[in-house]
Amino acid sequence: VLYPGIREEFNLDFSIKHFNHGAFGAIPNTVREFQRELFAEIDANPTGFYRRKLEPSLEEARLVAARYLGADPDGFAWVRNASEGLTVAINAVRLGEDDEVVVTNQIYPSVVLALQAKTVQTGATMGVVPVGIDDSDDDILAKFECAITPRTKLIVVDEISSPTGQIMPIRRIAALARRVGAAIIVDAAHAPGMYAVNVDELQVDFWVGNFHKWVCAPHAAGCIWVDEKYRDRIRPSYVSFRDAEPFPSNFSRLGTDDQTAALCVPIAIEFLDRLGPRKVFEHNRSLAQAGGKVIAEALGTKPLQGTFGARVPIALPKKSQRADSLNARELQIKIAEEFGTELSVTEPLVQGDKRYITISAFVYNDEDEYRDFARQFARWLTNSLVAV
Ligand SMILES: Cc1ncc(COP(=O)(O)O)c(C=O)c1O
Repeated sequence: VLYPGIREEFNLDFSIKHFNHGAFGAIPNTVREFQRELFAEIDANPTGFYRRKLEPSLEEARLVAARYLGADPDGFAWVRNASEGLTVAINAVRLGEDDEVVVTNQIYPSVVLALQAKTVQTGATMGVVPVGIDDSDDDILAKFECAITPRTKLIVVDEISSPTGQIMPIRRIAALARRVGAAIIVDAAHAPGMYAVNVDELQVDFWVGNFHKWVCAPHAAGCIWVDEKYRDRIRPSYVSFRDAEPFPSNFSRLGTDDQTAALCVPIAIEFLDRLGPRKVFEHNRSLAQAGGKVIAEALGTKPLQGTFGARVPIALPKKSQRADSLNARELQIKIAEEFGTELSVTEPLVQGDKRYITISAFVYNDEDEYRDFARQFARWLTNSLVAV
């Protein structure tokens, strides 16, 4: 164990195997304690907190968060979560009926819905780049080159895909977008805290992240970074006090909400700093890879070739009577209930493909947990004993 005693720092139920850190993170006790102190302050004097303390505190935390992500603070604002950030980014791009949006087949489901609404409103069309799980960066680039046309005005791409954990070659896709004059929105919901991020270096138009996943902030702490070209067009998801002010001030004073999660972001960053961020990134990445390998071996499927970080997909055998009788959601529930394991299950990315489970690793996980799960799950899938 790289971090002895680390489990004492979380309130997680460790009778459960938490292989899904990427989805909702986990909140260290020190971070939650700080949030409780904020709640106590609110309870003691709600008016004092909302009238005088909230805005300057959000501003202080905003500057810390922007620095952490290597993002110019003049382009950086708090949002509640990635969904909100992506919605306001999509709303800020002008499209017409001759225009086209290009996305990948791995795009987050709610982002597709936001884009579909936009295409209905504007008459624009949507093209889909089929990114395979074994694709190299060159393959992905070649597919984007192929999909882009003179009509392409917007590219929306995940920095780290939700269904598979695949890391996309964002810099190269951004360079392509610049070359063809298309705007690019990066859905980086999983990036903060999974590895070192430098938003300014990416040269994208919009970059949306979450602190409530890998940075371990409370839910809901999302952020958006916007390039100068779009700052006069971006508006919060509802009209509030600062609506007439320029970005990012127009996001700084919204209707009454619980924004304590954003205020906890500096403390969450401190928590990771204390563990040593590079050490944490490497630990999580190598443990996820090792865990994925153990599970793939037990299931008798090939390890996958794409670029992955601390989330790794494992193909399920193409034929398994038990798993095939359940859809992805049902199988996810079965795995949670029968094997006490939280992870994600994905339907085939393209027709005829296999299904995948995706596992995460974080500082509180160890290799034995993956081995244990691999043995139980393989035994259930194949209905026979499997040596791991
Ligand atoms: C790629 C991606 N985009 C968007 C989201 C949505 O994030 P949120 O629930 O914080 O809005 C997620 C959540 O897992 C995600 O993985």
